[in-house]
Amino acid sequence: MSPSDMTEAQAKGRIKFLSLEIRAHDEAYYQSDDPNVSDAEYDSLRKELVNLETQFPQLIVKDSPTQKIGSNPSSKFSKIKHGVPMLSLDNVFTEEELSEFLVRVKKYLNINNKIYFTAEPKIDGLSAGILYKNGKLVRGATRGDGRVGEDITANIRTVDNIPHTLSGTDWPEILEVRGEVYIGHDEFAAMNKTQLAAGQAEYKNPRNAAAGSLRQIDANVTASRPLKFFAYTWGELSAPFAATQMEAVEKFKTWGFDVNPLMARFETAKGLLDHYSDIALRRADLRYDIDGVVYKVDDLALQERLGFVSRAPRWATAHKFPAEKAITVLEDIDVQVGRTGALTPVARLTPVNVGGVLVSNATLHNEDEINRLRLRIGDKVEIQRAGDVIPQVLRVVDADISAREADYQLPTQCPVCGADAVRDIDEKTGKIDVVRRCTNGLSCPAQAVESLIHFVSRRAFDIDGMGAKQIEAFYNQDLVKEPADIFTLESRNPDIKLETWEGWGQTSASNLFAAIKAKREIDTAKLLYALGLRHIGQGTSELLAKHYISWAALSDSAIKASDHASAAWLDLLSIDGVGGAAAGSLTTFFGSEEHRAVIDRLLSQISVIDAERPTHDSPVSGKTVVFTGKLERFSRDEAKARAQSLGAKVAGSVSAKTDYLVAGPGAGSKLKKAADLGVNTLTEDEWLVLIS
Ligand code: IVH
Repeated sequence: MSPSDMTEAQAKGRIKFLSLEIRAHDEAYYQSDDPNVSDAEYDSLRKELVNLETQFPQLIVKDSPTQKIGSNPSSKFSKIKHGVPMLSLDNVFTEEELSEFLVRVKKYLNINNKIYFTAEPKIDGLSAGILYKNGKLVRGATRGDGRVGEDITANIRTVDNIPHTLSGTDWPEILEVRGEVYIGHDEFAAMNKTQLAAGQAEYKNPRNAAAGSLRQIDANVTASRPLKFFAYTWGELSAPFAATQMEAVEKFKTWGFDVNPLMARFETAKGLLDHYSDIALRRADLRYDIDGVVYKVDDLALQERLGFVSRAPRWATAHKFPAEKAITVLEDIDVQVGRTGALTPVARLTPVNVGGVLVSNATLHNEDEINRLRLRIGDKVEIQRAGDVIPQVLRVVDADISAREADYQLPTQCPVCGADAVRDIDEKTGKIDVVRRCTNGLSCPAQAVESLIHFVSRRAFDIDGMGAKQIEAFYNQDLVKEPADIFTLESRNPDIKLETWEGWGQTSASNLFAAIKAKREIDTAKLLYALGLRHIGQGTSELLAKHYISWAALSDSAIKASDHASAAWLDLLSIDGVGGAAAGSLTTFFGSEEHRAVIDRLLSQISVIDAERPTHDSPVSGKTVVFTGKLERFSRDEAKARAQSLGAKVAGSVSAKTDYLVAGPGAGSKLKKAADLGVNTLTEDEWLVLIS
């Protein structure tokens, strides 16, 4: 179903589903270096989500994967906060989307003249930021979640073609060179030969081999791996060193870095597309993996003006190569129950090689999707996997599906606990939800276990050594039934002798208890996120924590707000970015005595750190601004983005709450209303003076 045919309720269900999928894949990709879907599959999920969010902007949640960059850093390495965030890239897949990107750039800049773009291969490796002080390598970091990465300085120093001392003299005192660490095809084949000879498992693909090699605790191991680096962008700088992308990369070369020889500059869409085709043709001969072409605005002053939207720059995009396809047999459809009770059908497939990766599972999303495909067990199906790992079923290839009924139904009883599993009706639209859910809440073992798994996961309590398997085992032995039990596990069971359990040893057992102990302190946002409430992801948790500061204030207000006639409810809804669904989920949770008791038991085991109070340091921070009329120096979007980045709220209409109306030529009713209300009115130039 295309987004335009969907009802809001359907879109909402689908967005939720896609977000969960994408998050799970991110987790596998960033934390285990073990992606379970192909890049193309992953990109297609992401793309579908972006399309839906474009169609239904009211459904965008702050913690949507489209608003985020990567995943949390793993805890093996110490953490490094990036001075400049390490961004990701948006994608285009077609010529049409490329033209849209080019038009968007010009429109944002309000420019009609020619704009130059560079085009270069998108290397399929891992990004790294390498910091030089006075020409000496002092630090290396992974991207992590884009804000905080891992300190891999020792490992980076072992990469052959990364200089420890820069050549030349014209580098800035502080220079962070960013680029991609990768392993070439020949070296990858040799590595796998060695693995096999040693009786060890082969690496899935060069990207995984590179990730595994780079994140070795023992840098000597990294040194033995054939890692290489291409420099293509930068982070922290003490001073600018180039005026264009081309010039910057030329400089990297003179300072001793390898840069990609296929980077070139064009001024038309045709030029870019021809280069894309050329790179695609040469792909097989390159001897390293690439998964597309990256286009960037060449002029750095324009890049600066374009800035970025949450996770990706406005001045660049990746043109991905199409996904790889294969035919296999659908052997079975399993149903999994997730943390929020969603029943998800999973296709079990006869294993098949798709572009170098053996695929045996694919997600089928929900029952509507199975019906759309008219799938039957035993069917020959075409599957698709883009780039790297988890796949999607595209269609049935050996049967006439037109004769088939759309009669697949997920079980109406939860396959785990037997409670009713239903598709809710959206109160507002009257439409039926795409997702079927078990109605048993935390009394359903699957939901309880999945919630506990979420509770200890990386972005929540991040308890090392406690994963899905351990939680399941503890749950099944009745040792951990709710969060507080994790913290009392050892004291309640002094004779547990974990080291005698299957899969445990002396070290892993004592490490686990040490890891639990280390996490008895947590900040407000993480604690809320760890509870795994529907509609309350990382972003919303952070917004709520920032608003209420302390856990006590947050929970008191949430309890009061469960009365929707209260001031607390209005206060909750007034938080920018917190919608009705999140607010409802929070108050329903805190409104339950049983849930409050669970939290109280947890709080008796841990201490909660207050959120940081926001600082106000721009003249317009916290002010509400409205733009009207024609702006001459900026597009409306650019003006709005600037205002928001300075902490202002941008509103669409003038009210008594408006602090400034910025009016260009042609302003009409808003100007009049502002005058009536006595709102401060500024010209575009006056506004610029105010914010500069
Ligand atoms: S530029 C702010 N150029 O692709 C933009 N990225 O999907 C920074 N990548 O995080 C990225 N080749 O790890 C850029 N030639 C290239 C690239 C490239 C690979 C990676 C990079 C980035 C990811 C986004």
